[in-house]
Amino acid sequence: MFDQSSIVVGLEVGTSKICAVVGELQPHGVLRILGLGQSKSNGVRKGEIVDMEQAELDIRRAVQEAEQMANVEVRSVYLAVTGGHIRGFNNCGLHIIQDPEVGVTEEDVKEVMRNARCMNLPAQEEVIHTVRQHFQVDGRGEVREPLGMSGQRLEVAVHVITGQLLRLQNSIRAVRSVHLNVEEIVFSGLASALAVLSAEEKQEGALVMDIGGGTTDYAVFAGGILRLGGVLAVGGDHLTNDLVCALKVSQSRAEQLKVDYGAAFVEDRIRGQTLDLTNDLGMPIRTVSLETLRRVMHLRLEETFELVRTHVEEAGLYDLIRAGVVLCGGCARIPQVTALAEEVFDLPVKVGRAQGINMLNPALDQPEFLTGIGLLRFAQQHRMRPVRRGFMHGLAERLRFLIQRG
Ligand SMILES: Nc1ncnc2c1ncn2[C@@H]1O[C@H](COP(=O)(O)OP(=O)(O)OP(=O)(O)O)[C@@H](O)[C@H]1O
Ligand SMILES: [Mg+2]
Repeated sequence: MFDQSSIVVGLEVGTSKICAVVGELQPHGVLRILGLGQSKSNGVRKGEIVDMEQAELDIRRAVQEAEQMANVEVRSVYLAVTGGHIRGFNNCGLHIIQDPEVGVTEEDVKEVMRNARCMNLPAQEEVIHTVRQHFQVDGRGEVREPLGMSGQRLEVAVHVITGQLLRLQNSIRAVRSVHLNVEEIVFSGLASALAVLSAEEKQEGALVMDIGGGTTDYAVFAGGILRLGGVLAVGGDHLTNDLVCALKVSQSRAEQLKVDYGAAFVEDRIRGQTLDLTNDLGMPIRTVSLETLRRVMHLRLEETFELVRTHVEEAGLYDLIRAGVVLCGGCARIPQVTALAEEVFDLPVKVGRAQGINMLNPALDQPEFLTGIGLLRFAQQHRMRPVRRGFMHGLAERLRFLIQRG
């Protein structure tokens, strides 16, 4: 058995699968994966729970499998959250420095961060993360660490990620109903980025896109910090639905065709080719066009990449992405998807691999598990970090409030 205090658990309640990852925090910042459990997800649509009982059942199954593999008892989890209700935007805070002679103190920093979190959010919207971008003292420069600096006015620019309170509560409630505590909630796109980006890539600037079953979560890091988070309520299920309409086949057949024959490009050599569909007895029933299948996938994926590129450009961050784009999520498995993303983004693109984490089994290093794995990295940073630092200043208290209300 392991020292329970060194155990951290990530849980992703995804649209296609539920994934629980058990990790051990080892000395010198080493993170080891002890177990991973997954179950098919039947109660989630577009990243949000629509059937509570079913979701609870699936969560229990995934957690039990992870417990058995890791040989630990899971009591609490870091929970990934996603959905079209999640958005990221910039805000700023202002504070008059208490004693200009002494300079900026910890107390001043706390206060200016508190002010940055005070904003007029639409009713029922809740802050998930407040990420500091830079400080200014008396309107000068972009300061990373203002402690001790002399001046009168302290300002901070922050990136804020918010979600709908009721929807966040649903996720928390589902986890609590299987007798687990939620230590923190974490935006899924941030979790995936933490799993795959090296310190250099975060510094040089990288876009991470996690294309799952029901959502595409994205996050931009530059200068070592999270600059932008966002979600499109579009994922692999939409590719499947497009194929249902275009090929006039059932949902399950479309899903199978997508996985077995799908790709992100229509190559010349497959033009005019057809696929024979058979019934349960293996008898041919009809044919569908392989070219149409791939064209439909190409168009939907291209549109998804273009939407994200537009958002990144509008946020003024495109030129800061120098390390390139990293794809995660089950759709990162689609053949030639990196080549299509390269075309749209005009940047190098690769499929994400977990960075600097000891895998129990290399087979777990798959793009659809990266959100769950990234939650462990978040947990590691969260536990090591002094209270006032980090991605999610103040979330812990707010979360406790959410959970009490959940
Ligand atoms: N080889 C493949 N080819 C094409 N699509 C694939 C392949 N493998 C997985 N997918 C697709 O990936 C999607 C599932 O990805 P993932 O497991 O990351 O989703 P999820 O985390 O459950 O969903 P979300 O994060 O959107 O709530 C499904 O649409 C599935 O069809
Ligand atoms: Mg996912």
